[in-house]
Amino acid sequence: MSATVDSLADASALPVVDAGPGAFIVNGRSVPLPADPRRRLSEVLRDDCGLTGTKVGCSAGDCGSCTVLLDDAAACACLVPVGQVAGRQVTTIEGLAAAGSTADGQALGRLQQAFVDHGAAQCGICTPGMLMAAEALLRRDPTPDAATVREAIGGVLCRCTGYLKIVEAVLAAAAARPAPLAVAATAAATAVDPVGRPVPRLDGPDKVAGRTRFGADRAPADALWLRTLRSPHPHARFRFGDLVRWRAARPGIAAVLTAADVPSNRFAVFAELRDQPVLAEGVARYRGEAVAGIVGTRDAVATIDPGDFPIDWEPLAPLLEVDEALAATAVAVQPRWVGNVLCRGRVVSGDVDAVFERPSLVTATLAVRTAHVEHAYLEPEAGYAEWRGGRLHVFACTQTPYLDRDELAAVMAVAPEQVRIEPSAIGGGFGGKLDLSLQPLLAVAARVTGRAVRTVWERGESMLATTKRHPARMRARAACDRDGRLVAFDFHGDFNTGPYASWGPTVANRVPIHACGPYRVPNVRTLTRAVLTHDAIGGAFRGFGVPQAAIVGEALIDELAAGCRIDPFAFRLRNALRAGDRTATGQRLDASVGLVACLEALAPAWQRASAAARCFNSAAADDRLPGDAAGARAADTAGARAAETAGARALDTAGARPLDTAAARFVAAGPDPLVPAPRRARRRGVGVACMWYGIGNTVIANPSTMRAGLRPDGRVMLYNGAQEIGQGTATIMPQILGEALGVPVSRIDQVHGDTDRTADAGKSSASRQTFVSGQATLRAGRALKAAIVALAAPGSAADAAIELGDGSVRIDTGEHAVVIDLRDLPRDADGDVCKGEGYFDPPTVPLDADGQGVPYATYGFAAQVAEVDVDIELGTVRLLHLHAAHDVGRVINPVLTEGQIHGGIAQGIGLALMEEYRSGRTDNLHDYLIPGSGDVPPITIHLVEDPEPLGPYGAKGVGEPALVATAPAILNAIHDATGVRLLEVPALPHRVLAALRAARPEARQ
Ligand code: FES
Ligand code: FES
Repeated sequence: MSATVDSLADASALPVVDAGPGAFIVNGRSVPLPADPRRRLSEVLRDDCGLTGTKVGCSAGDCGSCTVLLDDAAACACLVPVGQVAGRQVTTIEGLAAAGSTADGQALGRLQQAFVDHGAAQCGICTPGMLMAAEALLRRDPTPDAATVREAIGGVLCRCTGYLKIVEAVLAAAAARPAPLAVAATAAATAVDPVGRPVPRLDGPDKVAGRTRFGADRAPADALWLRTLRSPHPHARFRFGDLVRWRAARPGIAAVLTAADVPSNRFAVFAELRDQPVLAEGVARYRGEAVAGIVGTRDAVATIDPGDFPIDWEPLAPLLEVDEALAATAVAVQPRWVGNVLCRGRVVSGDVDAVFERPSLVTATLAVRTAHVEHAYLEPEAGYAEWRGGRLHVFACTQTPYLDRDELAAVMAVAPEQVRIEPSAIGGGFGGKLDLSLQPLLAVAARVTGRAVRTVWERGESMLATTKRHPARMRARAACDRDGRLVAFDFHGDFNTGPYASWGPTVANRVPIHACGPYRVPNVRTLTRAVLTHDAIGGAFRGFGVPQAAIVGEALIDELAAGCRIDPFAFRLRNALRAGDRTATGQRLDASVGLVACLEALAPAWQRASAAARCFNSAAADDRLPGDAAGARAADTAGARAAETAGARALDTAGARPLDTAAARFVAAGPDPLVPAPRRARRRGVGVACMWYGIGNTVIANPSTMRAGLRPDGRVMLYNGAQEIGQGTATIMPQILGEALGVPVSRIDQVHGDTDRTADAGKSSASRQTFVSGQATLRAGRALKAAIVALAAPGSAADAAIELGDGSVRIDTGEHAVVIDLRDLPRDADGDVCKGEGYFDPPTVPLDADGQGVPYATYGFAAQVAEVDVDIELGTVRLLHLHAAHDVGRVINPVLTEGQIHGGIAQGIGLALMEEYRSGRTDNLHDYLIPGSGDVPPITIHLVEDPEPLGPYGAKGVGEPALVATAPAILNAIHDATGVRLLEVPALPHRVLAALRAARPEARQ
């Protein structure tokens, strides 16, 4: 390969030239075809040409991450043998960047800039593929409509955004004039009061230009490769044969690793529970558990036949279900935990049993089961490790650099200071990259071989080996009086946590606190167990069990409302928590309890949608509807008119802020043209669900430290340990810092996550970073400002204004102004002339044996309304519209906040309707389906701002709250449409049909 990495990644790599014989053209440069024409184009682009902007999420044509332009058409580079591109033009994301760039190579093309302005890139791993698919569309259709855009990007999966902002960005790029948001974004980037403004993602330009380096995009050139051998059985004993001989017969293999090579072969999320081996020791406890590591040259490890590896398996009976694991005769998954119960959670207040004895109450009981859910981030795990001067250096994807550091130190039996974690960019995490995955084995491999060692997991390995959302088996009952006031809630949930602890304790402890929902309930008993099995490891996934519990809880609320003959929306308003109320843990909520405002914001939509659904269903029942799209539209219009007046009144009093979203514009444009006309028996329904979510870790310490410094050149450096995982900490934290200092974000540089250079800001999980690290950032900003002002004169007023120039700062105390030259001032070890540090650990009170205490300093609140259309002959569910109102305390960045809500809702749709992981059967993205661009309906968002006094400028978190209410709202809508309640989730068509047939025996075939 004559082309070099630099030449092809060069942004000036245009114009087009002839390929010549035996060559193809990449971004305008001729590239010789490799010797093997069967190699994947994606591999050649990344490995030979150094064009790592093209991503690989599956190598099977399922995810679209590898989309490039072949001539002018979009193509999955992973499916194209390179021999097929002889003489043709290939354009990658780097070429798109070059085409749009100015002479300095910095400016972005119109499409890329629109992605940045509209928040269309979150983690950014799908972004190159999305951009190339959109570029192909715009080349053939410069003025597409929304439906055409959604169709064009339909082959590219995104797990973060919910697609709406991507569609919005493509439409904006196609429009003749700059979108209003682009103008606002430009102004926001230079404002000295950036909080509350739509500052474009600061990591956005790199993401849309293909410059961001994910785990697979960087490694030392001479790194060896690691391949992990895994158990094909969920439970088995194993014994190795002659490993020395096996290795000796394979010259490219440098080492074969077993448990004996690991200095301390246990790790965990919680140090006191360390129970997961890096490599299994004679017994595998789940399908996919690592048993051996093979290190060698890339070719040597790639060509290994696992069937030749000397290992003898003795399969054992696995315990896959909670019932099996809890049986008295069950073997112990781990001897340490008797009865296979890892831990229990409990909240008890009042006397539930006595309440249920009372006559004249309305009661309801339900039992619901949910499935394993896969995180399905588009970036499979990747990274490398090496030992430098006796210190371990790891570059890999992670949500929690400091936890990685401490656990790797324990595994390698070294001090934490001997480990440096340098996080790569992370292509989605959602909780799945909180646990160590590839890091410990890389560390061992690097130490044993004395070389840098890298690995890039394939899609199947990623899905098989990593944690999942816990399947839940829940039974609950609730009671209210005849006026619809809740009096009791009783919940028991068993969560299948797999063979190792992971986040099982957090799920078991968080669920009891939240299970009764965000309502006033005087008598509560919520009990949970995390149960050990031989199924996939149950870990952290956006919500830590709360989304599962909300499904049964919100269904019970609907049942009670029906029992009282009260509108379910009104029932929720009647019982919603308000400031001054106490929760089931005895915590008094003094401020920032915006649930009522959320409900009021949604009242018009609820009324309008409910009236429209009634109208539609009554027409369907009269047999006028099937095949009559006009009738459906008429029904919608009639319903809308009926609700219009009341809706407008409710909106006036809501105190919420509807935004000008893509979803809003879709609605304004009328019925979605992608939606087929109703041809079969259809029923429409509307569902509502509320949620609350404790922000941050449950009870345990939750600290964050952030630092900021003033550079001699007059720029500010933020040492940002709040790991960016697509949620926006790389933008939110600078906004908060900028506001504290009174400087624009454009003057702030950052160091991200590197444990050698940033302080411990804790995990990017539990929706905690905006609230916890945001407050730490605010305090760091105030401390830095005080230090800067003190340069003028010690004791100067902290509220003085500062203005940063090149190499100088102007300080105006109100009484006098001075300009200080920064270039000659002494510098600290980081090279800063001033430093500020902020620390925040939200106040909590440990829970007692009955779960009484203050588990969280604050809570996010939300309500969502779902409109569905159910085909009662096919059992399919089509989403018509989702409405979401979220109390986020204070909006730091409206575009990013909306993006989090869109993405959470998309994952909630998957939880409700599509996603069911089965180990060994759905370890790929064609058998395991996640929502695509056609599965996410219009979403209308209302952002409610009920400020949290402890939050930075009043802000709370929104990452997990975005998801929790979606599935229950959809499932309640299905019930509203059909009268049947899905007790096993997801609501796959066969389950919907089975429920319909069970409810209407006469309908059975
Ligand atoms: S990597 Fe090519 S489609 Fe997924
Ligand atoms: S932004 Fe699309 S997968 Fe993360």
